[in-house]
Amino acid sequence: MSITILGIESSCDDTSASVLRDGVIYSNITANQDVHMDYGGVVPELASRAHQQNIIPVVHQAMLKAGVTADEIDAVAFTRGPGLMGSLMVGTSFAKGFALSKNIPLIEVNHLQAHILAHFIDDLNSKYDHPGFPFLALLVSGGNSQIIVVKDHLEMEVIGETIDDAAGEAFDKCAKVMGLPYPGGPIIDRNAKLGNPLAFEFSRPRIQGLNYSFSGLKTSFLYFVRDRIKENPNFIEENMNDLCASLQYTIVDVLMNKVKKAAKETGIKQVAIAGGVSANSGLQNALKEAADKFRWKVFIPQLGYSLDNAAMIAITGYFKYLKNEFIEQDAAPFARMTI
Ligand code: KG4
Repeated sequence: MSITILGIESSCDDTSASVLRDGVIYSNITANQDVHMDYGGVVPELASRAHQQNIIPVVHQAMLKAGVTADEIDAVAFTRGPGLMGSLMVGTSFAKGFALSKNIPLIEVNHLQAHILAHFIDDLNSKYDHPGFPFLALLVSGGNSQIIVVKDHLEMEVIGETIDDAAGEAFDKCAKVMGLPYPGGPIIDRNAKLGNPLAFEFSRPRIQGLNYSFSGLKTSFLYFVRDRIKENPNFIEENMNDLCASLQYTIVDVLMNKVKKAAKETGIKQVAIAGGVSANSGLQNALKEAADKFRWKVFIPQLGYSLDNAAMIAITGYFKYLKNEFIEQDAAPFARMTI
């Protein structure tokens, strides 16, 4: 029997819908929100309003592209958390309304698990190489930096995480210091390609075990830039590429050191990266270098499936559907959901 799942993602500032049939993604439509650009970060109230505007057109397009009608959907999977409460409420309410009107099951999805399970996506264009179990996942986004042992699709154990800021937050906040628009991560990545990664040195966290900390690096970067501007008001403009390259080099190095430690301690040699920061070219290169050196097998998600998207929600929903893991209509969003 064929299974068709509608996935809905609305945890932060992207409204996304995806149709999956029998484990294969047929459509993945995302509406980004430009309204936050001028604010240096996502404004929750504006995000939930934009989700309200976008959700129906996005779902409509996803079904149209997949060639599927509402009557052909067997279950609705939605991001229950973590995320911004107002944003989550839009996707959750839509999913509940859709499931109720079609009398089909509702599946809650943990956004963080979904980022990792994006590695199991196949789409109409390609079949990808999927990790085997167990594997290590480095989950790095605007809200999270975690190292996770993935034992099965739905069985994951966090073995390290940030005690303060996330890696994406460090990218975005340092970008703001340099006057770059939000989200600064991709811009730093672009500029870094033209700069010298060893031009400047910033303080690195000294945290025991497998945990991360990025707030000290952010402060060190801020003070460094502020001091240099006192001597030369054009310091940022004149050194933009070197600043970006040195900052990226430091963040990537901090991330990779703990992944290497985790691989050594667990003996696991398959490593996947997930979340928005997994799009970073410096991180991808460092991972490939480590793969050669330590004989790891590494997995880097396709760009369309590394940023927030509903395809990862649909594939997670599919695995849960196969295990009959459904949720009732009284499900409320869970802003602080963890793995
Ligand atoms: O996973 P995501 O789309 O949203 C959540 O946080 O849930 O991740 C967004 C984060 C932002 O901090 C953004 O700056 C960062 O991912 N990001 C990048 C790159 N692309 C996105 N950071 C560094 N380099 C990139 N190429």
